[in-house]
Amino acid sequence: MRILFTGGTGKAGRHVVPYLMAKGHRVLNVDLKPLDHPGVLNRIADITDPGQMYDVMTNYADFDELEPGTGMPSFDAVVHFAAVPRIMITSDNECYRVNTLGTYNVIDAALRAGVRKVIFASSETTYGVCFADGERKPEYIPVDEEHPTVPQDSYAMSKVVNEVTARSFQRRSGADIYGLRINNVIEPHEYKSMFPDFITEPEKRRRNIFAYIDVRDLGEMVECCLQTDGLGYEVFNVSNDDHSVAATTAELIGTFYSGVPITKDMGENETFYSNDKAKRMVGYRPAHNWRMYLDDPTRA
Ligand SMILES: NC(=O)c1ccc[n+]([C@@H]2O[C@H](COP(=O)([O-])OP(=O)(O)OC[C@H]3O[C@@H](n4cnc5c(N)ncnc54)[C@H](O)[C@@H]3O)[C@@H](O)[C@H]2O)c1
Repeated sequence: MRILFTGGTGKAGRHVVPYLMAKGHRVLNVDLKPLDHPGVLNRIADITDPGQMYDVMTNYADFDELEPGTGMPSFDAVVHFAAVPRIMITSDNECYRVNTLGTYNVIDAALRAGVRKVIFASSETTYGVCFADGERKPEYIPVDEEHPTVPQDSYAMSKVVNEVTARSFQRRSGADIYGLRINNVIEPHEYKSMFPDFITEPEKRRRNIFAYIDVRDLGEMVECCLQTDGLGYEVFNVSNDDHSVAATTAELIGTFYSGVPITKDMGENETFYSNDKAKRMVGYRPAHNWRMYLDDPTRA
């Protein structure tokens, strides 16, 4: 597929873009900064500028596309990751502005250019636990896509708004638009640097509902969405099967979630951030359990 990927230079994109290229896709990365990776095509453009988004959606990706003489080719899919990725980087209102306006512009330009598949990055933070003032527990566990999304902060608010924007664009266009409620993204090198602390201090993972997503499994989820047509508008939690800590599900419930309703029998290390819908609807199968990457996953 010929794919336009926004935000491919960032933490998640710099792994997901090569993952998609290894699957045989041609990828144009649209970002404020280029991604220096063999074979990646780059275009510097700002998602908050609608003119720039219309331009990149209806343009050549590289010089070879001039050769056929048949005009500008269209994209088969857009993957939209560009964003201010949390609070406390920019001002709150700037985060909200970039994320909401940028997502409107990207989806609008994609649909006007005839793209029929858009996959966009939403977030675990929509559930309101991550950036809450004080401790906020999920309303039930495991947290699935039906859980209320009423966050307190501007970043998560922007992601909730983006989901509404995407759903409305889908209603008018009939295209497939899938939102990914991505949990905390973990790069391969971060297992050794971060996870030992999580063994001794599982409370550090409370705001992430104890979950994580290996960036390679995130790449696989994007690929699953590219390969699955006809769902219309859907959102999917994206996580690994297990917790990011060594404590068992029962131990974590005892320490952190007493009084929280539990809606199903849970496995020994089963995540509280349900990925059942992604497995059921697009065939997602995460492959990277953190225990594979520590010398002794029982000790810090
Ligand atoms: N990292 C996580 O744990 C996590 C968790 C949940 C959701 N997400 C979401 O996943 C996506 C990727 O996150 P990330 O961690 O790679 O973030 P990142 O900040 O590392 O990467 C974002 C990229 O977007 C680009 N960008 C920002 N503003 C832009 C603009 N106006 N125009 C064009 N490009 C712009 C940046 O240059 C950067 O390369 C984001 O939408 C983020 O909200 C991330």
